[in-house]
Amino acid sequence: MSHAAFDLVIRNARVATASDTFDADIGVRGGRIAQLGAELGRGEREIDAAGRVVTPGGVDAHCHLDQPMPPPVRMADDFDTGTRAAACGGTTTVIPFAAQEKGQSLRAAVADYHQRADGRAHIDYAFHLIVSDPTPQVLNVELPALIAEGYTSFKIYMTYDDLKLDDGQILDVLEVARSHGAMAMVHAENADCIEWLTKKLEAAGRTAPRFHAHARPMLVEREATHRAIALSQLVDVPILIVHVSGREAIEQIRWARSQGLQVFAETCPQYLFLTAEDLGIDDSYRGARCVCSPPPRDKANQEVIWNGLNDGLFTLFSSDHAPFNYDGTEGKKPGGEEVEFRHIPNGLAGIETRMALLYSEGVLAGRITLEKFVELTSTNPAKAYGLHPRKGTIAIGSDADLVIWDEREFVLHNTQLHHAVDHTPYEGMTLKAWPGLTLSRGEVVWDGREFHGRAGRGHFLACGAPSLLPRRSARPA
Ligand code: URP
Ligand code: ZN
Ligand code: ZN
Repeated sequence: MSHAAFDLVIRNARVATASDTFDADIGVRGGRIAQLGAELGRGEREIDAAGRVVTPGGVDAHCHLDQPMPPPVRMADDFDTGTRAAACGGTTTVIPFAAQEKGQSLRAAVADYHQRADGRAHIDYAFHLIVSDPTPQVLNVELPALIAEGYTSFKIYMTYDDLKLDDGQILDVLEVARSHGAMAMVHAENADCIEWLTKKLEAAGRTAPRFHAHARPMLVEREATHRAIALSQLVDVPILIVHVSGREAIEQIRWARSQGLQVFAETCPQYLFLTAEDLGIDDSYRGARCVCSPPPRDKANQEVIWNGLNDGLFTLFSSDHAPFNYDGTEGKKPGGEEVEFRHIPNGLAGIETRMALLYSEGVLAGRITLEKFVELTSTNPAKAYGLHPRKGTIAIGSDADLVIWDEREFVLHNTQLHHAVDHTPYEGMTLKAWPGLTLSRGEVVWDGREFHGRAGRGHFLACGAPSLLPRRSARPA
């Protein structure tokens, strides 16, 4: 018998990229896409996609896995359970955060985070950095060296006492991004306004989870978004505003773009599918499950987010998976107690549901095109963080990270999911699609029923320069 031409051929695929949708066979060799075309030669293994849509595997460019938390709080997902869940939901690359604690060296934070990931990931992963303590050593030595080694993006916070930077520190860090070609991600909420409102709410005895949304109205996001834009303008460097929740921040970003500023934006499923009512309509503690920052807004803001996804305002659609159990193991009830909203760990689970939610309610509900879906969930995140074209597309030479979609209606329950979180915010939602097959570098890691990954098969990816924009030369000294 003659040698097979490919390790794997996916036949009769409806291939979708960020620019085109076309019918083709996909030939895979050595974990990469070797050929696209009609009637390809034989594969060692053959899968008939029979006209089903095949997209690039998702790149979840904002998720938190096994991130050290102030005790006693702990994240439910580590690199094992988190990347398992990601793969079952059609994501083949994740970019979580190596977070610097104040007083810690950035280098030490990266070394610690590698130890957490080593031997555990089922799919490929890169790291963003979180810069919380921009000392001269960090700014002049550690950050430039880490950028050169492939950690080409970092997040800065304008809120959270243990992470936030003041405006001067933000300017310093943005200047490093400019000089060394990194992508700066900004969590934009005004910390002082939040503290002022929180104290007033506490004084009035309003400490139930739903008051978290009262302490973080759109105004505090709008002000910080505008300030972040101004700071980036001063330094003359692009920025990316993460987890944008609604109209007021969007208006600032549209204004910045109208001025020709390079301001990118990310949004997340919680701002399309949840509202502030999910934090509670009474003082029940169950709303703690949906406490995240910025908080979900209302139905009108969901529509504004949909418009922004459709018209190019948003560059990325990420999960912001921040996995905390509701009951036990020090998640939403630190110390086993129902606590005041100020002490509820922020964030919700979404690494496994991100792709199917947008495919169902975006593509199949006619709100966005299939090409836009691919752009937002895979191609742009790969470009923004220097992983394209290895990741984020279906092209010759790219990694064979692929999803074959099953279009079928079903009701979502947490019992179907593979994360280690005891609930999903989307419990009981009817979805119209789910990945029927996920391939990571040509290997089946999810077949629609069972998970086939192996802890440690995921590779660490050193990122290159962000490629959303043409390269600029560094500012003359
Ligand atoms: O509430 C959120 N989003 N928690 C996760 C951490 C962050 O700020 O992204
Ligand atoms: Zn954030
Ligand atoms: Zn986050």
